[in-house]
Amino acid sequence: MFGLGTRLFGNRAWGPTLSKHTIANLIAIAHERGVRWIDTAPIYGFGNAELFLGDTLGDHKHSMKIITKGGLVRTRTGRIVVHNQPDQLLSDLEGSLRRLNRAYVDCFLAHWPDNHTSDDTVLETLNRIKQSGKAKTVGLSNWPTQGLEKILDHIDHLQYPSNLLSPDANTLFTASQNSKTVTSGYSPLAMGLLKNQIVTRPKFGKRDERSHSPWFKEPQFSTIQKGIAHFLVENPGIKIQHLALSYARTQCDLLLLGVRSEEQLHQLLAYPPLDDALCQQLAKQIQSFLSNTC
Ligand SMILES: NC(=O)c1ccc[n+]([C@@H]2O[C@H](COP(=O)([O-])OP(=O)(O)OC[C@H]3O[C@@H](n4cnc5c(N)ncnc54)[C@H](OP(=O)(O)O)[C@@H]3O)[C@@H](O)[C@H]2O)c1
Repeated sequence: MFGLGTRLFGNRAWGPTLSKHTIANLIAIAHERGVRWIDTAPIYGFGNAELFLGDTLGDHKHSMKIITKGGLVRTRTGRIVVHNQPDQLLSDLEGSLRRLNRAYVDCFLAHWPDNHTSDDTVLETLNRIKQSGKAKTVGLSNWPTQGLEKILDHIDHLQYPSNLLSPDANTLFTASQNSKTVTSGYSPLAMGLLKNQIVTRPKFGKRDERSHSPWFKEPQFSTIQKGIAHFLVENPGIKIQHLALSYARTQCDLLLLGVRSEEQLHQLLAYPPLDDALCQQLAKQIQSFLSNTC
């Protein structure tokens, strides 16, 4: 199952922000193709993604389910800090509901763990939120593996990266397979790095989110590109983004797509999933190239 990501809505995460017109079209295309989940967060565009979403959902307001998150705060100096104290999570949710123009969201996640709020406190707050009816389900995003099995019974949803470059996160999904927890996976194309072979490392502005990603730093960037080049020689006819998407789909219940144009969305939704056994075999091959190439 696919969900539509909104990191680029009203946000110059990388490249120009998407217009409301493009966002409305992306939502319409996704809806027509059976997508029923949209993933957002107050931190995307510092509220703009949710505002744009609230403004553009239109007729799809009641048929699209919304995941939002809380606990990431921008300080006065512009730093982003994690703060999962009850007041913060509760007020983040209120802000999201206001911007989205809704009485409730379908899922509310604590966005990142922090090291000054205990898991028990976070779980109690999430439970309070669920009891209030302002979120139908609740869960955690980017949570560490340690102790996860004790937590699974208390949450409905887990979110992690899901891509060929994050096999550790994929283990986390496997850990939750026997529970009722729904898993959503993000960054299937590794912030665009797995869209195809990239010959020259892009130059990023200071605010470009990819400038903080280890995947785009050297020597990892060149290692990944050599691994991809090697893989493509061995497997002519396989598109790297098709494999990346097929693999990411197998790792979670709901795969979140990040796109900046209607064309990109059409393309991702049109890929037939690769045969499962072939997909796992190719994924192992590229992961081995990635770890061996230097
Ligand atoms: N919980 C969390 O901490 C967390 C973190 C990150 C993301 N998320 C969620 O997951 C969603 C998806 O993550 P993501 O944006 O990182 O996804 P991604 O799939 O890793 O990267 C998206 C980028 O891939 C490129 N792309 C997409 N379709 C393409 C196509 N058909 N052809 C060529 N390039 C294509 C585009 O790059 P260009 O822009 O360069 O064209 C696009 O911006 C986000 O929007 C957000 O909702 C959650």
